[in-house]
Amino acid sequence: MKERIWKTAYQVYESADELPEQDRALLQFAKQSLQHSYSPYSNFQVGAAVLLQNGKMVGGANQENASYPLCLCAERVALAAAASQFPGEAALALAVTVHSPGHLIEKPAAPCGACRQVICETECKHQHDIRILLQGETGEILIFPSAKDLLPFSFDGSYF
Ligand code: THU
Repeated sequence: MKERIWKTAYQVYESADELPEQDRALLQFAKQSLQHSYSPYSNFQVGAAVLLQNGKMVGGANQENASYPLCLCAERVALAAAASQFPGEAALALAVTVHSPGHLIEKPAAPCGACRQVICETECKHQHDIRILLQGETGEILIFPSAKDLLPFSFDGSYF
């Protein structure tokens, strides 16, 4: 028997002021996208923004449905919008943030498992890692070099 260790290196910034300018702008775009959240059922707003290779930023917010399983997460809304508006452009980074009217969220947003899988698919499609920036409403910002850091041993098209 062998034991292997999986390690993930990621960056921690204490506030948006410390971020490189492009990252700060992307996080700001994600925060602006919160206003487009349609979340009457959970009252939980999620905003996301994708930075593309051509320098464009595309935002998205969660879109809920009375039939709960049909709810769309902000990350997937943003990635699908980016792929539709700018097909062929690799995604370089994705920022995610959250807002709850009920309480201040100080810990970083955590993309759900399904979104992690979809971000991984986008990386495979363009053969390009996507840096992932996560922040709550306030508090520290985590930056992961790739979706693969959030989803070890992920399933992808290479199995076919
Ligand atoms: N949500 C996202 O938009 N992204 C995630 O990664 C986690 C959850 C949304 C879906 C739903 O509208 C609300 O948050 C509560 O689950």
